[in-house]
Amino acid sequence: MPSLLSADFANLQSSIEAIASADAVHVDVMDYHFVPNLTIGLPVMESIRAITDKLLDLHLMIAEPDRWAPSYAEQGADSVTFHVEAADAPVRLARELRARDARAGMALKPATPIEPYVDLLPELDLVLIMTVEPGFGGQPFLDLCLPKIERTRALLERTGGDIWLQVDGGVSAETIERCAVAGADSFVAGSAVFSAADPDAMVAELRRMADEASARAA
Ligand code: DX5
Ligand code: ZN
Repeated sequence: MPSLLSADFANLQSSIEAIASADAVHVDVMDYHFVPNLTIGLPVMESIRAITDKLLDLHLMIAEPDRWAPSYAEQGADSVTFHVEAADAPVRLARELRARDARAGMALKPATPIEPYVDLLPELDLVLIMTVEPGFGGQPFLDLCLPKIERTRALLERTGGDIWLQVDGGVSAETIERCAVAGADSFVAGSAVFSAADPDAMVAELRRMADEASARAA
């Protein structure tokens, strides 16, 4: 799914129209505290919600997600992902998100291991493995995250249920197959999509590459 971080913030509607075949839109919320960058907040998400029926996937790179995340679910986000490094009570927060009819997502920075959170997996609908340090688009993919994707896939198989394993950061035609082979099934791409001459064709191409790599690995 395309990340709007690399879209034109003055023309979000036309950016969303430019990715017509995408089934979801990834929205990055940053607060100058959890990450050294600032993007958009709830009012802009509400405006995006009003102009698209696509699945809205919120990635909150913010401090105090326990305080702020539930409002995004209340205002129509389909999926809300918080960083576990910033959460005070991730179980309670995941339950609050689900109670507001959103998928509950937990994100891990590159140096954060999955193992301490194994017992939380049944509370979640999405695990996001960051493949760059969060904060900026256009950074190079960190291959060191691939073993964590593999270990997380194995843990999810044991947990069962419908939990998406998402990758975000440096995902492109060069790297998406590695992510799929490692076990990811949800792929966020910002600069790869919006710097392409035809963003919608790039969405289709990335999806085809991921599907084929997953099928080969199965
Ligand atoms: C970065 C954001 C990403 C960002 C990815 O912290 O979470 O969603 O848009 O951008 P690319 O795909 O350019 O690495
Ligand atoms: Zn993101």
